[in-house]
Amino acid sequence: MQELLIDKQHDEKRQGEAYAPFQSDANTYKRHFYIESYGCQMNFSDSEIVASILYDQGYGATRNFEEADLILLNTCSIREKAEQTVRKRLSEFKKLKKAKPAMLVGVLGCMAERLKAKFLEEEKLVDIVVGPDAYRTLPDLIAEAGGGQKAVNVLLSREETYADIAPVRLNSNGITAFVSIMRGCNNMCSFCVVPFTRGRERSRDAASILHECQELFDAGYKEVTLLGQNVDSYYYISDSEPKPVTFANLLEMVALISPDLRVRFSTSHPKDITDDVLHTMAKHENICKYIHLPLQSGSTRVLQLMNRNYTREWYMAKVDRIREIMPDCGISSDIIAGFCTETEDEHKDTVSLMEYAGYDMSYMFFYSERPGTLAQRRYQDDIPEDVKKRRLQEIVETQNRLSLQSNKKDIGKTVRVLIEANSRRSEEAWMGRNSQNKVVIFPKESFDLKPGDYVNVRIADCSQATLFGSIV
Ligand code: SAH
Ligand code: SF4
Ligand code: F3S
Repeated sequence: MQELLIDKQHDEKRQGEAYAPFQSDANTYKRHFYIESYGCQMNFSDSEIVASILYDQGYGATRNFEEADLILLNTCSIREKAEQTVRKRLSEFKKLKKAKPAMLVGVLGCMAERLKAKFLEEEKLVDIVVGPDAYRTLPDLIAEAGGGQKAVNVLLSREETYADIAPVRLNSNGITAFVSIMRGCNNMCSFCVVPFTRGRERSRDAASILHECQELFDAGYKEVTLLGQNVDSYYYISDSEPKPVTFANLLEMVALISPDLRVRFSTSHPKDITDDVLHTMAKHENICKYIHLPLQSGSTRVLQLMNRNYTREWYMAKVDRIREIMPDCGISSDIIAGFCTETEDEHKDTVSLMEYAGYDMSYMFFYSERPGTLAQRRYQDDIPEDVKKRRLQEIVETQNRLSLQSNKKDIGKTVRVLIEANSRRSEEAWMGRNSQNKVVIFPKESFDLKPGDYVNVRIADCSQATLFGSIV
């Protein structure tokens, strides 16, 4: 079974990896926190807000949980498996907690929000439970827990965007960074737990976003990814400016910081992405030609059950429109296999739509019923597990074929690459990405280059996941 265990944008940050700034300042602090993040990039981004709040309280970060006074898990509820991973991890901390009773364990993020105080009954070793909108209260909760009380705050907010908190960059390569532009989601896709764990959608102050992006650029970063569950519905009205800022406006403002700053964004909803956004992308060379446009299913009937608010034909027309305005645009997707009542023909509709769209990449999952969602209340999770897995396997095989096909088309082309780091396999080669978000590996040769430099690379070969070439 080849289920992709990575979630959206997870190729960047590994699930559960200890998360701390690279310059270790462990010795300058008396107290230390250890944080692990799970789930989507929003969670990883939130951990950087949490780190900032804790630094202000005199805590330093550590990558070694055994020396921590406070262990935090920033959790995900998107599929059952994500929650199981966290529970397993918590049981590993149990032993440590027995030996070191003063050490506090806190659960943050979506699982905290979903289970609330129930978490404390289920997992006896947990001292603190904090939902995604309540991180500002963490210092009070730590104090409460330190005094022997169980501390919980899972209040969701209609306003909180943490706009004024400067994130402490953790596990950063110093070149690419994520910038949160909105929180929450109003979409209510029937399978999805996010609207319940993250609350109502709200957009962050545009000026604070621009300020953060400018500071990143000034600090040497060369790429920002604007993050939200549904970036196309970004909409900000400030008290001082009469004109509202749309997502297309915001993209343009960030792109204008410098032609040397690449701009990416995630995630787009097919029903909301506008021509305005597509034209803005086409107009600015530094807005990357890459759109993550989750399909979920290729069947109009299933899409309706999923409450996705578009049809098969609408989605196909969107893909056509993207290709018309930007013939070189990369497109990727999220797909769910075996949603409630999905027939074999409807599954084939998904496969054929994947082929129509010619995705460069997809994140693929089988349906996992989540408590409290519309689908759980309304429909039966009636596709047997072996059928779900077989359908997923067919979807994965289709994507593998499409990815290879897409990469083969790049052979012979010269692409502009932003160097991110050494190749994982060899110190003699660089790893970077082209505008379409494809990973490109090439020998360093005798050129004097460093991470953060742009370089033109001629593609000579490829695998399903990677392009290989040499500097021209
Ligand atoms: N806001 C993003 C999605 C975030 S969740 C968007 O709309 O694209 C990331 C992906 O997880 C979803 O796109 C979906 O494909 C998958 N997913 C969400 N809930 C799921 C569930 N209950 N079972 C299986 N996959 C799910
Ligand atoms: Fe979930 Fe749909 Fe919102 Fe994405 S758009 S977070 S899938 S409800
Ligand atoms: Fe993200 Fe998982 Fe929450 S995907 S929004 S961390 S449920």
